[in-house]
Amino acid sequence: MAYRYNSDLTRDDVTPREVYLNRRQIMMGSGAMLGAGLIGGAAHAQAVAQTGGAWDLTLNSLEEITTYNNFYEFGTGKDDPARYARALTTAPWEIVIDGMVDNPGTYSFDQIMEGMTVEERIYRLRCVERWSMVVPWNGFELADLLNRVGVQEGAQYVAFETAMRPEEMPGLAYPIIDWPYREGLRLDEAMHPLTILATGIYGEAMPNQNGAPIRLVVPWKYGYKSIKSIVRITLTDEQPRTAWNTYSTQEYGFYSNVNPNRDHPRWSQAEERRIGGGLFASRIPTLMFNGYEDEVASLYAGMDLNEFH
Ligand code: MTE
Repeated sequence: MAYRYNSDLTRDDVTPREVYLNRRQIMMGSGAMLGAGLIGGAAHAQAVAQTGGAWDLTLNSLEEITTYNNFYEFGTGKDDPARYARALTTAPWEIVIDGMVDNPGTYSFDQIMEGMTVEERIYRLRCVERWSMVVPWNGFELADLLNRVGVQEGAQYVAFETAMRPEEMPGLAYPIIDWPYREGLRLDEAMHPLTILATGIYGEAMPNQNGAPIRLVVPWKYGYKSIKSIVRITLTDEQPRTAWNTYSTQEYGFYSNVNPNRDHPRWSQAEERRIGGGLFASRIPTLMFNGYEDEVASLYAGMDLNEFH
C-alpha cells in the first residue's frame, strides 16, 4: 500500500468527541443485515444528551433528511428526489473499482460490505447553498475499503461516479451537469478516518433520495462533494474532473472545504440555515471546516485556503 496515515495519532485523537461518544461499532459479516434497525430513537436522544446537548448537533428528523434533498439526477427541486428516486433500482448493485489498485474489479454491494465495520457517525452536512442538517449516518471508513483493494504506489487521487440511468432518472434529460455526476478527493482526504461510505441513516437502509445504496460523506466539505449512488471508484495520479467544478471553476473548487471566510462569488458563506431549526434558530454561524478543523486542518498545512477553494 502506498499510503500510510502519517501521524502517531490514534483514531480517538482524530475523531470528534461527539462521534467518539456515539460510536457503536457493529461488526457486519454480510451486507444482508445492512440497514436493519440497529439504533433506535431513544438511543439517539441519549447520544445527543451525552454530548452535553450541543446545540448545533441536534439531529434532524428522518423526515427532514429524506424530504429536502439535492439529487439532480431526479430533478432540481428539493422535493423532486423524494418524489422520483423510488424508481431507482438499488439491488442488485455493483461498483467498479479500478485504476491504480492491486485488486481491480466489479464488486457486488455484498462483496463491498464483507468485513466492513458499520458504525454510526453523527455529522453536520453543510450545503454550499447555505442550508445544513445534522445526520446520523451508518457507514464504514472509505480507508477500510481502499486498503482492502490495495492502493498502488503513485496513486494520489480517488475519483467517484454516480449511476447514470436515463430510464430511472428523469433529471438526466437536462444537461445542467455533464453527466454522470462525478466527484474526487485527494488520497489523504479519502483515507481520513472522518471520510465514510454511508449505507444508511438512523439505522435504516439508505433511502433512495439520499443516495442508495451507498454514498460518500465527507463532513468538512460542502455537501456536493458527498456523491450519491456510487457505481465507480477509480484510483488515479491525476486530479479528477468533478461535476460542479466542471460546471463552474470560479464558483466550485476541487477542494470545496467549508470556509465561512471565503464567499461564494454570489453569496456569503458566513452563515447557514439549519433545516427544521425553527424561526429563531434558523440562521447559525458556519464553522471553519464545518466544525472539523481540529481533525482535518493539518491536511491543508501550507495551502492558501482562500485560493484553493
Ligand atoms: N450526488 C449526486 N449524484 N447528485 C447530486 O445532485 N447533490 C449533492 C450531494 N450529492 C448530489 C449528490 C449536494 S449539492 C448535496 S448538498 C448533498 O448531496 C445532499 O445530500 P442529501 O440530499 O442526502 O442531504
